Amino acid sequence: MPPKKTTLLQLLPFPVLPDFQSRAARDCHVIELWNETDPDAVIQAHRDDITVLVTSAMMSTPASLIDKLPNLKAICSNGVGYDSIDVQHAHKKGIQVSNTPDVLNDCVADLTWGLILACARTLGRAERHVRANQWGRSSLPLGTKVTGKKLGIVGLGRVGQAIAERSVGFKMDVRYHNRNPRADAPWTYEGSLMELARWADFLVIATVGGASTRHLIDQNVMETLGPNGILINISRGSVVDEAALIEALTNGRLGGAGLDVFDVEPNVPDALKTLENVVILPHIASATIETRQAMASLVLDNVDAFIETGKVITPIPG
Ligand code: 8YV
Repeated sequence: MPPKKTTLLQLLPFPVLPDFQSRAARDCHVIELWNETDPDAVIQAHRDDITVLVTSAMMSTPASLIDKLPNLKAICSNGVGYDSIDVQHAHKKGIQVSNTPDVLNDCVADLTWGLILACARTLGRAERHVRANQWGRSSLPLGTKVTGKKLGIVGLGRVGQAIAERSVGFKMDVRYHNRNPRADAPWTYEGSLMELARWADFLVIATVGGASTRHLIDQNVMETLGPNGILINISRGSVVDEAALIEALTNGRLGGAGLDVFDVEPNVPDALKTLENVVILPHIASATIETRQAMASLVLDNVDAFIETGKVITPIPG
């Protein structure tokens, strides 16, 4: 009698990794929920068999879904952020939760520098100027220099560190703000977020999302960063008070912003689409073939490890 296969509930496809489904099916009976015409009925029919759930940082995985699966033992998520998953509830029920850290650090850090340069040197505005046949017809305002300026990082985790490491090429002073200083960090720790905002020319938000950081970057922080300061957000839209951001950018109390994440994605406020001192991107920081394949593969590695050892490889702590 062959061993009973693990029943895996998969909430989303991974087209970036063509063999994802065949690899998953090797050891699992996979329920591809996006292909089901009545997802709720399928979950109900298999509720007692499902022990592993595959989800994503971009999908809601609430307590209400977790509670529908009485024998769920592991949630394996695609993405480093986990604010969309009720991790605390899962842990209370003894359910392991894994994410996909580290494999996306470089691409997110690279994109961050893309936003810094795009904001400082008005790359988006300049490109629109040429496409609108305005070169030679109207003037384009000067940008601001990046090299030699002051970089503040809010949230020096693994992504924040990758961002800071790249500052060497731009001969920048770097300071960071965390809840606590990191003994292994060669950069200056600033215990006060406001003091960091006062000091910085560029303020990069690289914190976790969720309730603990909601609106951490508020009107006071933005106005302290000031009319020559540039705010970069590659963490979660929830970390920045978006209404206050629009107000500060519109009234010139904040110099500019580079945003890859928004409060209610994919709905970007019209004001952010029309302001010239803003660069806006559709949450593409990890969106390269190499990184998305590495993320999807790490999801599968977590599933395989859980099946073989009872433990996921990259657990979310807590
Ligand atoms: C998304 C991200 O997860 O990893 C994260 O937390 O925000 C992104 O990498 C990615 O779009 C996959 O859904």
